[in-house]
Amino acid sequence: MRVYEVQKGTTSLEGLRMAQRPDPQPGWHQLLIRVRAVSLNYRDHMVTLGRYFGGAVSRDTIPLSDGAGEVVAAGPGVTRFKAGDRVAGTFFQVWKDGPRSSSPPALGVPLDGTLAEYIALDQDGVVAIPTHLSFEEAAALPCAGVTAWHALMAAGRPVRAGDTVLCLGTGGVSTLAMQLAHAAGARVIVTSSSDAKLERARKLGASDTINYTATPEWEKEVARVTGGRGVDCVIEIGGAGTLARSMQSLGFGGKVCLIGFLGGPTGDTSPFPLMMKAASLHGISVGSTHMFEDMNRAIEQNRIQPAIDRVYPFEQAPDAYRRLASGDFFGKLVIAV
Ligand SMILES: NC(=O)c1ccc[n+]([C@@H]2O[C@H](COP(=O)([O-])OP(=O)(O)OC[C@H]3O[C@@H](n4cnc5c(N)ncnc54)[C@H](OP(=O)(O)O)[C@@H]3O)[C@@H](O)[C@H]2O)c1
Repeated sequence: MRVYEVQKGTTSLEGLRMAQRPDPQPGWHQLLIRVRAVSLNYRDHMVTLGRYFGGAVSRDTIPLSDGAGEVVAAGPGVTRFKAGDRVAGTFFQVWKDGPRSSSPPALGVPLDGTLAEYIALDQDGVVAIPTHLSFEEAAALPCAGVTAWHALMAAGRPVRAGDTVLCLGTGGVSTLAMQLAHAAGARVIVTSSSDAKLERARKLGASDTINYTATPEWEKEVARVTGGRGVDCVIEIGGAGTLARSMQSLGFGGKVCLIGFLGGPTGDTSPFPLMMKAASLHGISVGSTHMFEDMNRAIEQNRIQPAIDRVYPFEQAPDAYRRLASGDFFGKLVIAV
């Protein structure tokens, strides 16, 4: 089969190469899946740069955590799926439910990932995809979607109708968060460096938009548009560089869900606003199989279609990576396999 590999020790996109590997065979409890589409996450860019946790990959590794396809064969002991089922793999392969008690291995690093024509996964590391979604749309869900769902619905008090959610930026996690929050009946405020992207965010249900380049003190604008009340949930993808403003954007009893680190390595992270507002800070690490299934029910019920910026053919996978690195996209970048 055709795959891409991030070669051992890689520190640039030059180390992403198309290669041939033997077709995998489904073992005990495993499904053989013909991958139809995969999507990129910021993490995948860091992996090719050798800057993901732990540094460069220590063996030639098939990259990417997110993919959707169809089951072509079931190994012995499989009970949950059959040939022909439309499925996606879960980011963590062995976190079924409940609180995470360890660091389970994830697809794409350290496990071989989804940028391959076939993949064999344990049936417990696979979920059925919403019936109204294409494979390209479903491929957007395993990391970005589940992370957004975890933050909104499983961390602390779940977001409910009438709440206000602040989403930072218009990348994969934030666009899925805005779609899920809007479907739950929440008011959604979105920040972006681009007015054109903010226009697209309004089409996905954002009611208030703030250009964080033109308005660097965006927490003041959040306070203004909420009449001084603040928000109930922040999708915090900036980390240390944005955390202080996120905490200042909160209303009483609100939560900041700490997801990413795109806003730079340093900043004022004084936790004082959390104390004054009886608010909370939740570290988010993608999510469990159970969360993925809960999210898929909500996506199906609300006919949500993840925002796909562009679908690249398999042969042009490096171009998709280059686009990810440029930041010039809205939502998700997908590769058809
Ligand atoms: N903890 C977890 O489980 C988890 C899961 C998924 C992702 N993450 C992390 O979360 C972050 C986002 O991941 P992703 O895959 O959604 O990334 P992505 O799709 O690459 O998102 C990129 C977008 O983030 C926005 N952004 C960058 N710096 C910003 C800032 N200072 N303020 C506001 N927005 C900013 C930009 O939006 P505009 O172009 O609109 O300005 C940019 O286009 C990454 O750090 C990733 O590693 C963590």
